[in-house]
Amino acid sequence: MVVILDGKRLRNKILEGLKFEVECFDKKPSLAVILVGNDTASQIYVNSKKKTAEGLGIESKVYTYPDDVLEDTILEKIKELNEDSTVNAILVQLPLPEHINKQKVINAIAPEKDVDCFTLENTGKLFAGLEPNAYPCTPQGVLFLLDEYGINLDGKHVVVIGRSNLVGRPMGQMALMRNATVTICHSHTKNLESITKTADVLISAVGEVLIEDDMMKDDCVVIDVGISRGENGKIRGDVNFETVSKKVAYISPVPGGVGPMTIASLMVNTVKLYKEQIKRSL
Ligand code: GUN
Repeated sequence: MVVILDGKRLRNKILEGLKFEVECFDKKPSLAVILVGNDTASQIYVNSKKKTAEGLGIESKVYTYPDDVLEDTILEKIKELNEDSTVNAILVQLPLPEHINKQKVINAIAPEKDVDCFTLENTGKLFAGLEPNAYPCTPQGVLFLLDEYGINLDGKHVVVIGRSNLVGRPMGQMALMRNATVTICHSHTKNLESITKTADVLISAVGEVLIEDDMMKDDCVVIDVGISRGENGKIRGDVNFETVSKKVAYISPVPGGVGPMTIASLMVNTVKLYKEQIKRSL
């Protein structure tokens, strides 16, 4: 029988623990979010982050800017937030409009407030096998989910599909840090199936349906990070859940799998950065 990796349940458990922890703090932790443009998906994500934070007693301020905002305006806001000791965590929602230099903006965030692990200092630490100030939210959320179900990556073949800076690359690195043997596949990978068939854990982060039940072993753990909208308007993942869930040992659904874990992870990181900043200020 397949086990469904329930991200909603684990998110609720993590948030409950965090809420209790935050209640015990003298000062509220604070998360600042920068949102540029009117991408509907980004607006939905940001609203959800703000609502979740506030539900835990974390202060959350969203700074919204029009699509044609100057890069300098964003850089100035980040500088101001960096210098504001009441702000513990800063998140710049991606994607940013084309005219804005994403790397420059992200890298302007003070590394100790970089809640996404996007700055070069934190990514550098991550890829050097050192501890960043906070781990990237989605890969960390995937690991929380695997831990909850007692799935150990040591010595396992973890196949990641997708090489984005947001998910694929850090996911591969974090699995490697757990002593997995890691293969990262992408759009130029030849003979994808021959690789996925050897996966103990298959993590797909592509954004289109491409994982079918003949692509993996029976005892595979399938993690679906993909999110897209089907013709019927419904949210769906990269995995054909109908067929794959009948075959494998574990599977994360979409929605209700990795998505809720990303937000839980963001809250964990906000509290972590807050605690480290308090410690440093003592
Ligand atoms: N856009 C899509 N996912 C994310 C995320 O995890 N963090 C940020 N900052 N932007 C995103």
